[in-house]
Amino acid sequence: MAPQRARRSNLAVPGSSPKMLEKAKGLPADQVFMDIEDAVAPIAKPEARKNIVAALNEGGYEGKTRVVRVNDWTTQWTYADVVEVVEGAGANLDCIMLPKVQTADQVVALDLLLTQIEKSNGLEVGRIGIEAQIENALGLINVDAIAQASPRVETIIFGPADFMASINMKSLVVGEQPPGYDVGDAYHYILMRILMAARAYDKQAIDGPYLAIKDLDGYRRVAGRSAALGFDGKWVLHPDQVAAANEVFSPKQEDYDHAELILDAYDYYTSAAGGAKGAVMLGDEMIDEASRKMAIVIAAKGRAAGMQRTRAFEKPEA
Ligand code: GLV
Ligand code: MG
Repeated sequence: MAPQRARRSNLAVPGSSPKMLEKAKGLPADQVFMDIEDAVAPIAKPEARKNIVAALNEGGYEGKTRVVRVNDWTTQWTYADVVEVVEGAGANLDCIMLPKVQTADQVVALDLLLTQIEKSNGLEVGRIGIEAQIENALGLINVDAIAQASPRVETIIFGPADFMASINMKSLVVGEQPPGYDVGDAYHYILMRILMAARAYDKQAIDGPYLAIKDLDGYRRVAGRSAALGFDGKWVLHPDQVAAANEVFSPKQEDYDHAELILDAYDYYTSAAGGAKGAVMLGDEMIDEASRKMAIVIAAKGRAAGMQRTRAFEKPEA
């Protein structure tokens, strides 16, 4: 199974900017992804590949998941992006992000190419993961097959800007509801569809960018929507968005404490010493096996975020 890394905040850095590649090292983002795709002009792409190889090999991204976004398979750039970056810095890279994935075959093609490069360069075969971006209708209807196309797939990512364009959504503001749409959330189906594929196949579900980088309230609102559904993280385009993402995708302290308490209490009450009970009262709340499963989710997110509990479970007096 692909590793589940912390990915609350996924920082986008254009590969054409050595300055921004450098600055990313000091930001508290869980993941940094160096772009050769849409944030890099076509004539700057060869230079971006070189900058990225140099930055990865120089290091300084400790504690962060290191990802490179290559161009999609309908362009002329993908193979050279992958070959140059992985041959040049494969040992210092965690994942390749593949944008605009439309079919499972496109993931398989990347998997095969990665395997060849790993073999011919003495790299561990299969270590480099794949992050698949869903950015159009065909990708969304094939998302189940895409999630299963390779054991390298670690995340399914929603790319809202390209997606909105591809389905002709009448909005120019990414993440906001299109004018005239007032029956709910125009993104709900897309987000849920991606989330179901991710959860069915043990992948992480990641929400894409929020382009109004000065509007932190808007960022929190849109991030809060995908976090509430169960998404694991969201892109950040600007240093100011990093703290907001880390906060929104971590549980609140009281929810984390409560989850750890449920786990300890349920462990105790289901044991012989605790009376071997399957449904018990914890304060005013009835807890059972399903409560334990919900608590595991919150506790895992809190532990991954490095949270410390502030309340201990106390056994009842004998
Ligand atoms: C990201 O790539 C997007 O298109 O939103
Ligand atoms: Mg895109």
